[in-house]
Parts: sequence; C-alpha cells; structure tokens
Amino acid sequence: MLVVLKRDQEEVGRHAAHFVASAIRRKASLTLGLATGNTMVGVYRELVRLHREDHLDFSRVTTFNLDEYFGLSPEHTESFHHAMHEHFFSHVNVNPRNIHIPDGAIAGDCEEYCSAYEQAIRDAGGIDLQILGIGRNGHIGFNEPTSSIGSRTRLKVLSEQTIEDNRKLFAAGEEIPQCAITMGIGTILEARRILLLASGEAKAAAVAKSIEGPITSSVTASALQLHPDVTFLLDEAASMALTQREYYMKVLKMTAMLTPSRLT
Ligand code: GLP
Repeated sequence: MLVVLKRDQEEVGRHAAHFVASAIRRKASLTLGLATGNTMVGVYRELVRLHREDHLDFSRVTTFNLDEYFGLSPEHTESFHHAMHEHFFSHVNVNPRNIHIPDGAIAGDCEEYCSAYEQAIRDAGGIDLQILGIGRNGHIGFNEPTSSIGSRTRLKVLSEQTIEDNRKLFAAGEEIPQCAITMGIGTILEARRILLLASGEAKAAAVAKSIEGPITSSVTASALQLHPDVTFLLDEAASMALTQREYYMKVLKMTAMLTPSRLT
C-alpha cells in the first residue's frame, strides 16, 4: 500500500489524472474502472485537458463504472450516467461501445443483469486500474457497511448517511433513490491496480480506519488492505486522522528515489 499526500483537492485530482494518463500511455487498450462523486470532477477535468492539449488517446480504452442509483433512468440528470457524460465521456474519444455503467432502470431480473456486468468485466480481460472515492462511512462504490469482502456486483440498500450525503446532488424536494447497483468488494479487489482518492476533513476518520484500522465489513474500504497494489491519494485534510502520517511521507520520499516511475 502506498499513501500519497497532496495539498488540496485540486492537486489530488490532477495527480490522479496523470496516474490514469500514464497507465493509458503504457497500455492503450487499458480497462479502466471509474467512479463518480464530487472528488472525481477534478480528475475528469484534467483528463479532458490532457486529451485536448496532450493528445491523450482514449480510443482503445474500455471503461466500467462502479455503480448507479437503482430506479433512475440513464437520462435522469442526477444519474451517474448523466454525470459521467457531462464531466467526461462527451469530451473525450472513448468509443461509446466500450463504456459500461450499471443500468439503474433495468426492467428484468436484477441478479442476472449483475452477473452479466461481471461477465462483461471478465470478457474485457479484467480491470487494469480501478479509481475509487470513499464515503464518510468508509464505503467504496456503494458497498455500505455490512458488505462482505467477497461480494460481487449486486443491488445494495443505501444507508441513511449516504442518502443524506447525496441529497445535495438532487433538486430540493426530489426523492433520493434508496438502493443502487454496485460492483462488490470482491469485484473491486480483482482489479490489478487500485487508486483511492479522498479529500476534505469529512473523510479523515474513514480514511484512517481504512488504512490503519482492522479489516472489517463496517468500513468496507479497509478491505483494500488485502490488495497488493493500492494507492491512497489524499489531501491534507483527509489525511489528518492518520497516526502514521510522518512515516507515509518518509516512505513516499524514499519510494520516489527508488522507483520514480511508480509515482507518475
Ligand atoms: C458515492 C459514490 C462513491 C463515492 C462517494 C463519495 O457514494 N457511490 O463511489 O466514492 O459518493 O463522493 P464524494 O466524492 O462526492 O464525496
């Protein structure tokens, strides 16, 4: 596990975008796991800039989004489909055929749909790099507390805290979905590389528990401790509750000296 500390959300976004860009430059046909949320907006902004100004080419990239609200059509302005197109897909050259986002409006058997999503990930050769945000309760994707480490893509009931946190994204008075389709913890752990981003004081406790606490289904991001190649990219505020902060900074300095390419 690598803990990378940056000053603020803007630096976190820029660093994450360059991390993704260098993965695409190394493998043009990268399978990229994507996330939504406020923390991701700066990442997409910088990726769009790199596409426009530095010819970053997404034409062979395949994407899989982590999650989507259940009961919202892709056209709904609060859906993750909508956010992804608004912030990213409509500005870059990802082939629309290679874009995968769980469909929150599926009419048929949800379990079957979720297994097909898992199969599509396998058919694409598995996820090379998964980007994650984190919820205040330590969730990744929409894997709320109580999600098992082996969980796969499925329908998950949202916690009250998550519903409250997401209320700001919806118009006043509008009903917020109570459930979501999300990749499971087991699905996420199969990605070859994982990059988790967190910014702001509100995430500090969840971040500290995920990195330094026991592995527990009460803080689902703690399962990432089991992954052999995970980077936590944090701004100052999000890193404040870490007890080993100074040590991570030292490791970072030494790692940069020994293996500079890992950090680009
Ligand atoms: C939602 C998403 C998560 C995301 C989280 C944090 O719950 N399902 O994938 O990590 O929001 O969002 P924000 O970056 O807005 O704090």
